[in-house]
Amino acid sequence: MQKIIILDFGSQYTQLIARRIREMHTYCEILPYNKFPEGDADVRGVVLSGSPFSVNQAEAFKPDLSGIRGKYPLLGICYGAQYLAQSSGGTVGSSDSREYGRARLASFDATDPLMQGVREHSQVWMSHGDTILQLPADFRIVASTADVPVAAYRIDGEPTWAVQFHPEVYHSEDGSAILRNFVHGICGCSADWTPASFIDSTIAELQHQLGTDQVVLGLSGGVDSTVAAMLLNRAIGDRLHCIFVDNGLLRLNEFSSVLKHYKLLGLNVTGVDASQRFYAALAGESDPEKKRKIIGKGFIEVFEEEAKKLSDVKWLAQGTIYPDRIESLSITGMVIKSHHNVGGLPERMKMQVVEPLKLLFKDEVREVGRALGIPESFIARHPFPGPGLGVRILGDITPEKVRILQEADDIFINGLKTNKLYDKVWQAGVILLPIRSVGVMGDERTYENAVALRAVCSTDGMTADWADLPNDFLRAVSNEIINKVRGINRVVYDISSKPPATIEWE
Ligand code: XMP
Repeated sequence: MQKIIILDFGSQYTQLIARRIREMHTYCEILPYNKFPEGDADVRGVVLSGSPFSVNQAEAFKPDLSGIRGKYPLLGICYGAQYLAQSSGGTVGSSDSREYGRARLASFDATDPLMQGVREHSQVWMSHGDTILQLPADFRIVASTADVPVAAYRIDGEPTWAVQFHPEVYHSEDGSAILRNFVHGICGCSADWTPASFIDSTIAELQHQLGTDQVVLGLSGGVDSTVAAMLLNRAIGDRLHCIFVDNGLLRLNEFSSVLKHYKLLGLNVTGVDASQRFYAALAGESDPEKKRKIIGKGFIEVFEEEAKKLSDVKWLAQGTIYPDRIESLSITGMVIKSHHNVGGLPERMKMQVVEPLKLLFKDEVREVGRALGIPESFIARHPFPGPGLGVRILGDITPEKVRILQEADDIFINGLKTNKLYDKVWQAGVILLPIRSVGVMGDERTYENAVALRAVCSTDGMTADWADLPNDFLRAVSNEIINKVRGINRVVYDISSKPPATIEWE
């Protein structure tokens, strides 16, 4: 399969370059700046990303590009542009009139293959401290802004271009045209990477990789593990054994309804009700991290016991997706969020890991899920933490607290759905607070629990805003919870953003 390689120098925008190229239905991969896949016959072009470093810093990444330059079409972006210029004898330094943010092209060579379709005075997004002060002799300027003479250049005699601005950022108005000119025009890639082609090629690869082996997979009820299971099911049928564990911390009726759906989807799935075992292990524990560990360990134990009942299973399948891997590959060492797959299991169970979604972004996983016929109700589900309601019951966990929280949560989530608000928020849930407060019901004084409603808007869960839900809706949900859920007499709404708060309370 044809592909573009993006060599990552650590820029915050590297993933966006990949997103933009994939949106053009061309496959691409991000690799660390010094890990170019020599000899890979599928590579059609290379992009050098931006970087948090200046080329003049001692720590800056300076790989040998002699195996790439002149051999593949090459596009340097920001740091990539500066490094190409500097490593060929040009000069890069800080300029007096440096541009940051929005700028406009003042002039450009409209005949250049990279600039086809770019409009005059098009806005471009600059994000750099340095600028190219002097280009080597065989480098030719292709575009300039008022303050940055070398906004884009090409190298005579080789298929190398570079841009000082960031075409991958939305604020670069013709950025997509520039990337398309590079990927489809200069590199000659076709636009045939689609969910359907991904499904076909992945099924063929899985069949080749797995042969007649048996595979086990832990379903969580979430989108990623479901799509991974469906792909594997198409590839190897009932040799895929799915295990869905009820840890007693799922939403109301979630275990039975999700299990039913999995069966309707044709998956070979075993449901294991292990709630009592989890409650017993969690009894009396109120430390959030210890609770997480107990739940994680419980899951591994149950999963292992079930997997042992199957004979001769060599593979463990996981729903790991691309951002999880990119973060763990992070070359600058700034891992923002670690991912939550069943860590430690493969080594312990002496299994090999198969991850059919490891190259997809979340929305691509959803597209593939739709193309596999998974119902929209499944695809559009909110993220839900692995430890489930365990991190939404602050303090120790008891079956009674789980009951209270499940009932309140069900009212909130159903309310969001019936009021067409569910798809407007990234994630929502209820938190059971470890306090009781005084209330009055009829003529009686009450002294009962309080819950917090939490709903946030986000694009990736890394930052989030509290959702500005209509007051009438919140009023109705609060009334219904207090009237119907025995044990609750007060409802509050969480108006904290992330950062500095987090989405979950524990
Ligand atoms: P926070 O609370 O860190 O949550 O803002 C960010 C996203 O991660 C989910 N989350 C978890 N998911 N295991 C998981 O699988 C966990 O321990 C965990 N903690 C938080 C959270 O629901 C949100 O989507």
